[in-house]
Amino acid sequence: MLKGKKIVLGITGSIAAYKAAYLTRLLLKKGAEVQVVITPAGKEFITPVTLSALTGKPVVSGFFTANDGTWHSHVDLGLWADAMVIAPATASTIGKMANGIADNMLVTTYLSMKAPVFIAPAMDLDMYAHPSTQRNLDLLRSFGNLIIEPATGFLASKLEGKGRMEEPDEIVNQLEAFFSKENKLSKKKIVITAGPTYEKLDPVRYIGNYSSGKMGFALAEACASRGAEVILITGPVGLSVNHPVIKRIDVESADEMYEEAIRSFRDVDGAILCAAVADYKPALFSENKIKRKTGERLSVELVPNPDIAAALGKMKKKGQVIAGFALETNDEEKNALNKLERKNLDFIVLNSMNDAGAGFRTDTNKITILFPDNSKKVFPLKSKTTVADDIVDEMENLLM
Ligand code: PMT
Repeated sequence: MLKGKKIVLGITGSIAAYKAAYLTRLLLKKGAEVQVVITPAGKEFITPVTLSALTGKPVVSGFFTANDGTWHSHVDLGLWADAMVIAPATASTIGKMANGIADNMLVTTYLSMKAPVFIAPAMDLDMYAHPSTQRNLDLLRSFGNLIIEPATGFLASKLEGKGRMEEPDEIVNQLEAFFSKENKLSKKKIVITAGPTYEKLDPVRYIGNYSSGKMGFALAEACASRGAEVILITGPVGLSVNHPVIKRIDVESADEMYEEAIRSFRDVDGAILCAAVADYKPALFSENKIKRKTGERLSVELVPNPDIAAALGKMKKKGQVIAGFALETNDEEKNALNKLERKNLDFIVLNSMNDAGAGFRTDTNKITILFPDNSKKVFPLKSKTTVADDIVDEMENLLM
């Protein structure tokens, strides 16, 4: 899986930096090409001579070489790599990456990186557990970076707990697992709906919901990173897409989302309907701002919106696959199965408002995937990036 892959290995100032030599050797043995970028603190723990002797390439540390002024381009490294692995990643570097503090070559390379980024934290257990570190890791997850969770065990501080950098063999396993999925969806075209819809009441007000688009955007990135061509139809959200093959179509209302979804569905292999579409819209749109009339109640008549999932379910041809979502507050599985059948879906992803960390706006989700034969797969709470991978695995199985 790693043969011919170009890996930028970022090394920071942690005692676990000694393991980076073994990690480099493992990557080279698997046929990867490795370019080391090391922070000034990293050089205190492992010498560039060791690393350049292993890789056969000069180690990059500063922005230029002092003796001849050769400029090191972080932009070129960002374009060259198939993956960047930061192992070990200290709390300091994690904080800089999460907040864009580009004061060394490693962080500037990270900010220019076009390829997937893997981060293997290494630190003392209390530093790892600190809300500041956890917030920074959550931020990095929300950017689509993959965190290689540290192991629990003896630490350099002589304490015992979670914070040990994952062993190099396991880091390589995770990279191989990632690349084994690559291109599994090449030549497939997937349409994804994401975000909320806004149903206009007057020029300044609308009926909407709390969807942030995070789950739908993670799905789009997951499909694109497996080689699929992706059409992402999204309601109003404050997110941007990272992957160049994602074609983004911005809409506002359920009617607009319906039009675009119907148009796209004709020539795609699959659809993942993650948008929180308003089931109803105001019967009338007031051209002027609705004025307050003191003491009087105001009633708004609502009429049904088109059901996009049900319409696509009716259009579905042999070979096309549709996955829907169900966001429930009660009788979760019963309601989800009902939607699965009524909308002619191939599977449905249930998330419940009763589960902490699941549903709207969070960086995590907890899902159960339900199938037409009443079988189900229950997943623990995970980052939305990882949840997206689990959902795309199911899509991939059905599309093969
Ligand atoms: O965006 P985030 O903040 O990350 O939050 C993610 C999420 C909670 C929005 C997402 O995980 C989710 O659950 N999306 C579906 C929300 C929803 O509207 O569920 P529903 O049970 O009301 O709808 C069932 C299915 O029919 C969904 O696939 C929905 O997209 C679809 N639908 C619903 C109504 C409608 N008029 N047209 C539709 O296509």
